[in-house]
Amino acid sequence: MKSRKAVSLLLALMLGSAAAIAATVTEETIVEVESLRGGTEIGDTNDAPTIKNVPKNQDKFSLNYVNQPPMIPHSVDGYQVNQSNNACLQCHDVDVYRKTGAPRVSPTHFMDRDGKVLTEVSPRRYFCLQCHVPQAQAEVLIENDFTPAGKFGQ
Ligand code: HEC
Ligand code: HEC
Repeated sequence: MKSRKAVSLLLALMLGSAAAIAATVTEETIVEVESLRGGTEIGDTNDAPTIKNVPKNQDKFSLNYVNQPPMIPHSVDGYQVNQSNNACLQCHDVDVYRKTGAPRVSPTHFMDRDGKVLTEVSPRRYFCLQCHVPQAQAEVLIENDFTPAGKFGQ
């Protein structure tokens, strides 16, 4: 009996502090931020968000850290990636990049998780937009003072 009481007291304390943390986060950080759905209630249908305006071509983006997937400096409108077709590879694959002038898909993308080199892009690197993203001119959601580490920050 005694130990059960102790457990519930502990639980109450933990819940209490979780609530306190949640309250601090809500008050100080999240006040101005909305999800893509906006202020729409769960049961209501929101207006479809406008598609972000990604410039057709822009300068290459510099990297912020070692091994960052480089950002995409062109729009990707209409480039489909599905089971039978990968539009990205039609320009970036090793056998075509010289003709298209696109940077060659990285050799690391041909390795499976055991480090074995495959003849095709590895399935875990097939969905390019999982890691590489284009950049739109958009308002920042939250101001931040991020500076890249080491030589990337110079
Ligand atoms: C019509 C050809 C073409 C297609 C299709 C294409 N790209 Fe590109 N991509 C290019 C070219 C050309 C560049 C180089 C642009 C430059 O140098 O400014 C480039 C640059 C890039 C870069 C920058 C690489 C770096 O080292 O900075 C990434 C990442 C990239 N593309 C990813 C993609 C992804 C992901 C897709 C599919 C959604 C895709 N590309 C589809 C032609 C293409
Ligand atoms: C799981 C994440 C991931 C996926 C998926 C992925 N990449 Fe990458 N990509 C990276 C990272 C990380 C780098 C930088 C380090 C490296 O080369 O591995 C990179 C580098 C690149 C580069 C620059 C190569 C260079 O020599 O500078 C190109 C081009 C590229 N990827 C194209 C693609 C294309 C096209 C696809 C889809 C077929 C793709 N990537 C899928 C993570 C990914």
